[in-house]
Amino acid sequence: MSNKNFYITTPIYYVNDIPHIGHAYTTIAADVMTRYRKMCGYDVFFCTGTDEHGQKIQRTAKEKGLSAQELADRTVLNFKDLWKILNISYDDFIRTTEVRHEETVQYIFKKLLDQGDIYKGTYEGWYCVPCETYVPESSMGDGNTCPDCGRPLEKMTEESYFLRTSKYQDQLLEYYEANLKAIMPRTRYNEIVSFIRTGLRDQSISRTTISWGIPVPGDESHVIYVWFDALINYLTVCGYPDGEYVKKYWPEVRHLVGKDIIRFHCVVWPIMLLALGVNPPVSVFAHGWWTVEGEKMSKSKGNVVDPFEIAKVYGVDAFRYFLLREVPFGLDGDFSEKALMNRVNSDLANDLGNLLHRSLQMIRNYRNDIVPFPRNFEPIDIELKQVAFDTFLKIEKNMDDFAFDEALKAIWAFISRGNKYIDETMPWKLGKGGDQERLDAVLMTLFEVLRASCLMVYPFIPESADKMWSQLGLEGSPSSIGYAGFEWGAIEKGTVINKGDILFPRIDPTEWENEKMKRDAMKGCVTDPGNHEEEIGIEDFSKIELRVAKVISVDEIPKANKLYKIEVDLGYEKRTIVSGIKEYFTPPDLLGRLIIVVCNLKPARLRGVLSNGMLLAAENAMLNDLALLSPHKDVPLGTRIS
Ligand code: MSP
Repeated sequence: MSNKNFYITTPIYYVNDIPHIGHAYTTIAADVMTRYRKMCGYDVFFCTGTDEHGQKIQRTAKEKGLSAQELADRTVLNFKDLWKILNISYDDFIRTTEVRHEETVQYIFKKLLDQGDIYKGTYEGWYCVPCETYVPESSMGDGNTCPDCGRPLEKMTEESYFLRTSKYQDQLLEYYEANLKAIMPRTRYNEIVSFIRTGLRDQSISRTTISWGIPVPGDESHVIYVWFDALINYLTVCGYPDGEYVKKYWPEVRHLVGKDIIRFHCVVWPIMLLALGVNPPVSVFAHGWWTVEGEKMSKSKGNVVDPFEIAKVYGVDAFRYFLLREVPFGLDGDFSEKALMNRVNSDLANDLGNLLHRSLQMIRNYRNDIVPFPRNFEPIDIELKQVAFDTFLKIEKNMDDFAFDEALKAIWAFISRGNKYIDETMPWKLGKGGDQERLDAVLMTLFEVLRASCLMVYPFIPESADKMWSQLGLEGSPSSIGYAGFEWGAIEKGTVINKGDILFPRIDPTEWENEKMKRDAMKGCVTDPGNHEEEIGIEDFSKIELRVAKVISVDEIPKANKLYKIEVDLGYEKRTIVSGIKEYFTPPDLLGRLIIVVCNLKPARLRGVLSNGMLLAAENAMLNDLALLSPHKDVPLGTRIS
């Protein structure tokens, strides 16, 4: 068994919602850490999953007319799809409705109950349903609202099982005092330690008010509180109590979580573990939250960032890179597509993309694709080698602290050094009849800079690193050699490069703006719904005679630059309609198309032509575009619409 084991987790995500950037953030960070540790020779176990019980899920399912299990079964697919797209290399995906988990939760509950660390009592308090948590009176917002989400709290009284949290308070403090990195960053550590010092109240861990959860063993009128249930997932995947992974991975566990859920992870969870006689986690890292263009992300604002869309538009690696480079992991950050575009252009296209492109182009031009293999190097070449090794050390130091952004800064400093080296050594001059041995040394140095860069960036942008690797003409993937297998200059003599497409195309800001405007417009967020007209009854609606018709001719009208004279066939008769759609369509766009016509509109004369009806269309004002209404499949002409 390797003694370099590493176990990393993400929170398990609620299934009442579709995945957003916040979910993607933690999961990408965990994936990057996993790939990095593997490159360092660790045996890594990486788990994620879904949190499927509780009131929130039960409510959403009811609103959607589904059973809670059905809702979970559907939503879990969104998460699994997203992880596939984002190249998330997890080892286990746990759903809390799986039997293996329910058994573990009941086993733990019973064990703690039997040993007296869980007892039955009554609970009265203010409860936030969406956050699944009781809020102490001291932290309630104005008008009895939740301090986190701002929604009204509900007063609840219920018989409840309690975890004897208070009993373990001192033991937990001792653990934190001895392990300063058990909670990161330091601000969170301080926050939690002072919270524990104020004194802990026993934690309510069962509910009688809901049914969607794991039953309390032996007392089926209670279900186990969703957080007690969810936290245990981290042990379930290890096969607790006697699975082999408990010994192998648990002693090396690191939890990545958002800052909003640290009390559960840094107070309740370690106390559950202490009560079980299991070590608390080596570390819990709490990352910050993303706002979107300066605003809190929320469904009601319609500004929730969809990771599927971002990955599709900008590429998975650009998204992964941006999230980890833009903001220090423990701090809040602001997401904007503009900032993402700028990063793609400056860091990926310009710095990394150019280094790759320029270097390979010169190996192609001057050495016919064959990487030279010289013996003599100058101090400047050796300096680059030294910078590479220093960079590996900086990566190691920063990754140990989850400082992804700092690790990336160090890598990009190395990449910039590579670009500067090209300017300094001017291989294009050497290429034009200069010192050929010197040119060999420069080209090989550049090749090694690229090979080292590939290893460095691989955990962050694995797909692109693999492509770079293959453009360098190397076999397999950078992941297969790992950092320990890297030796400067250790390439096969006669390596042939395989220069290919540009890896990170530059995004043109003007095109980007237009394209983004289109995407925004297509999201269908009509920001001003206007005043709804006075209500009408069905008898009013049925006064409008709507029918399916076919366009049979389209003619221009002299001096009318917005109008077409359109002949339509209603089956039982033909009619002429004058319509202001000329700027949107050419005649071939319209000919033969089925459309919807208002047939009993009073005829009107437009530019001298009598219009006998009106066709229906939806205007996209933001795009200055128009969509015609049509039946979605063929129906006889003249069919009435109701
Ligand atoms: N089910 C619980 C976790 C149980 S773990 C034993 C849960 N799920 S969640 O789906 O609501 O949230 C998961 C994570 O998303 C949390 O870590 C939270 O911090 C994170 N984020 C939610 N919105 C976020 C941002 N706007 N920005 C960054 N992360 C955010 O909580």
